[in-house]
Amino acid sequence: MPMLDRPEILVNCAVSADGRLAYAGGRRARLSGPADLARVQWIRADVDGILVGVGTVLADDPSLRVHWEAIDRPKGRSPKRIVVDSNGRTPPGARVLDGSIPTIVAVSERCTRAFPPEIQVVRAGTDRVDLARLFAELRRQGMRKLLVEGGGEILASVLAGGLVDRMTVFVAPVVIGGASAPPMVRGVDLAAGRPSVPLTFVTAEPIDDGVVLTYVPARPSEAPARPLSGSTHPDASKGPE
Ligand SMILES: NC(=O)c1ccc[n+]([C@@H]2O[C@H](COP(=O)([O-])OP(=O)(O)OC[C@H]3O[C@@H](n4cnc5c(N)ncnc54)[C@H](OP(=O)(O)O)[C@@H]3O)[C@@H](O)[C@H]2O)c1
Repeated sequence: MPMLDRPEILVNCAVSADGRLAYAGGRRARLSGPADLARVQWIRADVDGILVGVGTVLADDPSLRVHWEAIDRPKGRSPKRIVVDSNGRTPPGARVLDGSIPTIVAVSERCTRAFPPEIQVVRAGTDRVDLARLFAELRRQGMRKLLVEGGGEILASVLAGGLVDRMTVFVAPVVIGGASAPPMVRGVDLAAGRPSVPLTFVTAEPIDDGVVLTYVPARPSEAPARPLSGSTHPDASKGPE
């Protein structure tokens, strides 16, 4: 099998039953229960990097660290934190810039912002971060597995760019609604050239009071648009190959 010119990319996020990532205006929603939070920590502990967009940093100020105590494991190696931030909008006081964990800020070539010396700045893309170029650079630096946690614009870009190997979505039993609560995928027009991003359903596992859905990208032969209703995909029980 040819080596990918990028790390293996896992996407994980939590949404409401109506597919929202957060409350109105992007205010953080705690959608996961304790078992799902622990599941996410297991994934974080297993990857080399955890990536979010600057929109998530501005909205949530996440630490992007492994909470070893939540999985009852001794502290291990921390995955690198990666913030996708074309113009250097990450606030100086953001937790991702606290220097406690190796951190990369990916910027565009036009970015003039200076970051603290302990932050690695990677330039990829002229006006906006080119994720394929960034991922190639991360692979070149030895990163084998990358977890993309959001938000909606980053998820749109990785899905539209065919840059996802596996996607898990925790669906919480709550409806958020409203016009300004961000959907799971937004930003770039996924419809550019194709009507949808076809996925293969793998599993649905009850966890806490919700469900974790796992998907992998559909193989090219499965790519034609599927009807909106119908039976389970024929490969659903096989899992990823
Ligand atoms: N429930 C969950 O699991 C979960 C997880 C994460 C986030 N969230 C929520 O998601 C919301 C934030 O999402 P968001 O969509 O506003 O922001 P985002 O996806 O975190 O970040 C988007 C920003 O990233 C930058 N960017 C640079 N290159 C990009 C590229 N190639 N493709 C896409 N973005 C690129 C852009 O800003 P520049 O142009 O300035 O670079 C863009 O505005 C918050 O409400 C947060 O609470 C929820």
